[in-house]
Amino acid sequence: MTNSLDTVYATDLDLLYDEIADALARSGYIVLQNPLPDDLCNGLLLNLQQQDTALNPAGVGRQGDYQRNNTIRGDAIQWLEPGVPAVTEFLCWMDKLREAMNQRLFLGLFDYESHYAVYEPGAFYQKHRDAFRGKPGRKLSSVLYLNPEWDKTQGGELVLYDEAGENELLRLAPEYGRLVLFLSEDFPHEVLPATARRQSIAGWFRIKPL
Ligand code: OGA
Ligand code: MN
Repeated sequence: MTNSLDTVYATDLDLLYDEIADALARSGYIVLQNPLPDDLCNGLLLNLQQQDTALNPAGVGRQGDYQRNNTIRGDAIQWLEPGVPAVTEFLCWMDKLREAMNQRLFLGLFDYESHYAVYEPGAFYQKHRDAFRGKPGRKLSSVLYLNPEWDKTQGGELVLYDEAGENELLRLAPEYGRLVLFLSEDFPHEVLPATARRQSIAGWFRIKPL
């Protein structure tokens, strides 16, 4: 008989991992409505709300050609580091997901980097890719949305396009607790402007440089 709580949770999570792995293998992306414990989301939201002065305008480009340009992206970010319990727990949750995807899909993900992102009303992130095919680096993108009582009329959707960047595949409102995962190389995507402040944690599972 296996009726300890631990076993029940492990089984639930294993089913979730199976579902995610199947979707990634089949279509390359998945939207999960509320995969993280409620307490964890609430803790992250509280911590995000305390970050106001720590948030900095995000840049675009890699080391050499890094620049700030709010005609490309207008969010302010703060990288996550373990420390605050909710953040530590979130990073652990993502690390378990990383291991589970490696076991099921042999992705070779070796770490996860993530930041809070705040888009003030009107801010957006133009259509872009998180990674380029054949280049080492970001392999699996994640976004967790932290907007309590988001109203669909407020905009701020994530739009995912097909590989060629021509056809829209998904238009997703940034509703509280939602987590979207997609293969970084396969989907150009953009963030549409919103009429309200739009909050999230964007993160990337990475593969090792060759
Ligand atoms: C990103 C990004 C999407 C979103 O930060 O690279 O594409 O919905 N974010 O916030
Ligand atoms: Mn992106």
